[in-house]
Amino acid sequence: MIEVPEAFVRGTVDREGEPGAAWIDELPATVAQLMERWECVPDGDVTHGGVGVVVPVRRRSEGTAVLKVSFPHPGNIHEPDTFAAWDGRGAVLLHERHDDRFAMLLERVRMSTLAEVEDSDEVITVAGRINRRLAVPAPRGLPRLREQADIWADQLRREAAEFAGTMSRRVVDSAVSTMHELGHDQPDLLVHGDLHARNILRADREPWLAVDPKGYAGDPAYDGGTLLKSRALKLLEADDLPRAVHRVLDVFAEAAEIDRERVRRWAQFHAVRAAHWGRRHGFRVARGGSRLERLTAFMDHLAELLTEPL
Ligand SMILES: Nc1ncnc2c1ncn2[C@@H]1O[C@H](COP(=O)(O)OP(=O)(O)O)[C@@H](O)[C@H]1O
Ligand SMILES: [Mg+2]
Repeated sequence: MIEVPEAFVRGTVDREGEPGAAWIDELPATVAQLMERWECVPDGDVTHGGVGVVVPVRRRSEGTAVLKVSFPHPGNIHEPDTFAAWDGRGAVLLHERHDDRFAMLLERVRMSTLAEVEDSDEVITVAGRINRRLAVPAPRGLPRLREQADIWADQLRREAAEFAGTMSRRVVDSAVSTMHELGHDQPDLLVHGDLHARNILRADREPWLAVDPKGYAGDPAYDGGTLLKSRALKLLEADDLPRAVHRVLDVFAEAAEIDRERVRRWAQFHAVRAAHWGRRHGFRVARGGSRLERLTAFMDHLAELLTEPL
């Protein structure tokens, strides 16, 4: 039986309450059943992300692999379909899936992530290249981002009213316009949906491979925004913020081979949403207090900076 990491237990129970605790109680038995089903044996320490446990295993046919079991949340439904569509291109291979259990057997890569790389240009270039490789025609059945555009536009307006006095009207209006102008008209390309440096792992088959996709169909520039938002703590340290933001957009757009202006607009949208999200829920890296205030204020500032073509 595996030992479920304490931090993962705490995180799941805090977020999901009683259903989370019940799911955690079953988890060692679930993992044991899946190992038996897929004829695997444990091969190293259990690790985890925000929503899933990852168990290194060994099996005769593939050698090393990992078993990932996620909390049964609607946001985790499309992960196996997404890996299947990539078929190892820019992302880890999917060996097996058990959708009722939200479980997958995946190609094992190294435990080291792109977040360990210091050089910001390198991080952005790797993420941009991965973004380009992952932008294959989206399979049917994945959520279409274009179907979210009106919902997001309404949500932005409601939240702007709720958090009045934090961001200027012009900034919110610009994010709403992005939904009207870019949101409705998006290509049917596969979008990772949570592209950031901790979801890009060092590998041997390719230098870096993506894990942990949400799996949407839409504009690959969407994930330029996800990535830029995930760099907030790094950008907070920049001596010249406009220049640093400029640089992220330049480097990402070039590596991903997508229009820089589209990346800017999606990034602006993500920054506005992140500022609202932070005020409502806090961030993983800043749950409350002055640290959270500082980060939400920074998100406001980032959204404002991204509002004008840079
Ligand atoms: N295929 C893999 N090979 C090796 N390690 C992995 C693999 N997938 C995930 N991991 C490890 O588990 C961690 C969490 O995985 P992730 O899929 O991002 O989970 P979550 O959905 O909970 O964020 C990663 O940061 C990495 O350390
Ligand atoms: Mg992750």
